[in-house]
Amino acid sequence: MKLEQFAMERMQSTYENQVAFNLSESGVQPLRLGDLVDDAASRQSLLEEALRYTQSNGTAALRLLIAAQYPGATPDHVQVTNGGAEANYISTWNLVERDDEIVMMVPAYRQMWGLARASDRRSGARVAR
Ligand SMILES: Cc1ncc(COP(=O)(O)O)c(C=O)c1O
Repeated sequence: MKLEQFAMERMQSTYENQVAFNLSESGVQPLRLGDLVDDAASRQSLLEEALRYTQSNGTAALRLLIAAQYPGATPDHVQVTNGGAEANYISTWNLVERDDEIVMMVPAYRQMWGLARASDRRSGARVAR
């Protein structure tokens, strides 16, 4: 499957770390790792955490905590991803089927637009604007 160039992401990856003021940023001020913990024992525990390959759908403990935020959800309903782009990709890939019509707001983050158009060529789904 060939993807069209994601123009907004290409612009950001080309320039966002080269400028003094990034007016295209859509995120929030980043946390520091130290902001995730509020006591010395937790800080030490964080520092000792190995940066290992983790369970690909999220650890059982994390999925349990996330599921607890949603009435009726269980850890089996939860898929943890490495950010929004991976979640968008998995969702689009799994949901879009042949002859589906996909409607999305524009302008927006156009990742799913490009994925859907690529799957359009793959499966016959149509993307309306
Ligand atoms: C609206 C929106 N969705 C998704 C993403 C991708 O998210 P992530 O970097 O968490 O994969 C971005 C990144 O800029 C975004 O702005």
